Amino acid sequence: MKDLVARKNILEKAYDPSDFRAIGHQMIDLLSDHLERVQVDQDHPVLPYQDPEDMLSYWQKDFSSDSDIADVFQKIVKNSISVHHPRYIGHQVAVPAFISSLAGLISDLLSNGTGVYEMGMAANAIEKIVTDLVANKIGYTNEASGVLTSGGSLANLTALLAARKAKAPTAVWENGHQEKLAVMVSEESHYCIDRAARILGLGEEGIIKVPVDKSFKINTLLLDEYLQKAQSEGLHIIAIIGCASSTATGSYDDLNTLADFAEQNDLWFHVDGAHGAGVVFSEKYKHLADGISRADSVVIDFHKMLMTPALNTGLIFKKAEDAYKTFEQKAQYLWDSQHTKEWYNSGKRTFECTKLMMSIKVYAILKTYGEEIFEQNIDTLYGLASVFAQMVKERTNFELALTPEANIINFRYINSDRKNLSTLNAAIRQTLITSGKFYIVQTRIDDELYLRTTIMNPLTKEEDLLALLDEIERIAISLD
Ligand SMILES: Cc1ncc(COP(=O)(O)O)c(C=O)c1O
Repeated sequence: MKDLVARKNILEKAYDPSDFRAIGHQMIDLLSDHLERVQVDQDHPVLPYQDPEDMLSYWQKDFSSDSDIADVFQKIVKNSISVHHPRYIGHQVAVPAFISSLAGLISDLLSNGTGVYEMGMAANAIEKIVTDLVANKIGYTNEASGVLTSGGSLANLTALLAARKAKAPTAVWENGHQEKLAVMVSEESHYCIDRAARILGLGEEGIIKVPVDKSFKINTLLLDEYLQKAQSEGLHIIAIIGCASSTATGSYDDLNTLADFAEQNDLWFHVDGAHGAGVVFSEKYKHLADGISRADSVVIDFHKMLMTPALNTGLIFKKAEDAYKTFEQKAQYLWDSQHTKEWYNSGKRTFECTKLMMSIKVYAILKTYGEEIFEQNIDTLYGLASVFAQMVKERTNFELALTPEANIINFRYINSDRKNLSTLNAAIRQTLITSGKFYIVQTRIDDELYLRTTIMNPLTKEEDLLALLDEIERIAISLD
């Protein structure tokens, strides 16, 4: 009985609004202090790096201690990378606009499942507004429609499912594979495309990777040859995928030529714009994605260039009906008929059953700042990337891999004998990130290791980038 009372008290405590208010206020103070610190104090580490085993024992110790939750929150912040730090120049994760993160708290508290209308009335209506806005920016007509889903990987998989539904000669959804199907994509595409194709059961031979040209764009001169070769081997190509942009180098494929190719060969044309389709919001940079309106489907990650916390992805179809056809399936407990098309039951068009209220995080930004903020963000980040590329070019000890089109810049330190550059640059990066002063990543280009930076933070300044090059130089000399 005593146990029961104690347990009941715990449950009551877990749902006590006054505790929520008190802890919530403390948490907002903690996070605001953190943000103020990382934005102004350059010496505050971007990444307080610790080895994985040390991190694990740190948390094992915490778990067995009686630290209170405010303490725990503080420790989490202290032991995490700070994307809000102007010297975070690493992976393509948006620096969330604060208003969007606050909307995220509403999502986590209300926990509306959103898949069916009643479980997310506001979120579903707002999702339509947000996805219609993006469809319009892409240049689609009002025949288009979209959904939000958890991440570019899942959205690309969903788009390829739609492609299969539309272009496979027989009904794979109902009867399984009868033919050997395949998709064509640049060899520089994100690995999730390869995974999606394998999940679809296409196997290795069903993923036709077309080489890139010297700008790391799909080599459109090779498309016919690759198509014919695949067909002669008995493959039925269902789709061509364009990268806008590619992950490693930020290169935009020639979408108009891919659209022509798709039209000529009756293929589904999908654009993986997870990183770079945000340029549709920018007058200055939208030309990079010219031809995007001719795609049958487009993926765009709000949590990359459009300032929301991860994950938050739009999957937009040129023709709404394709979205509905993708997952035709009975789910009596959710909706009455599999055949009706209700925009407000967004679960009909996504793999996810329950999903976060992603739309409100985009809407919060739009309502607070207007869509110009996306344009400003893109223009600032892409603009700064080209300034940085110029800085790299002007330094004798550095080499630029290619002139960036997007905000992804690949470069490396070079010494006079140009020996072991991959090993040297890997060591530079390791020293740099464990110092906590900057966060950058690395990639391989033509089998050589390059330092890779993605300028994601609109508060990063030219001084930060100059300081990065100085620091790399200093580390390189100390390693030599
Ligand atoms: C071009 C591209 N497509 C897809 C993805 C995968 O997106 P997500 O991480 O949202 O699943 C990425 C991630 O970096 C990407 O750059």
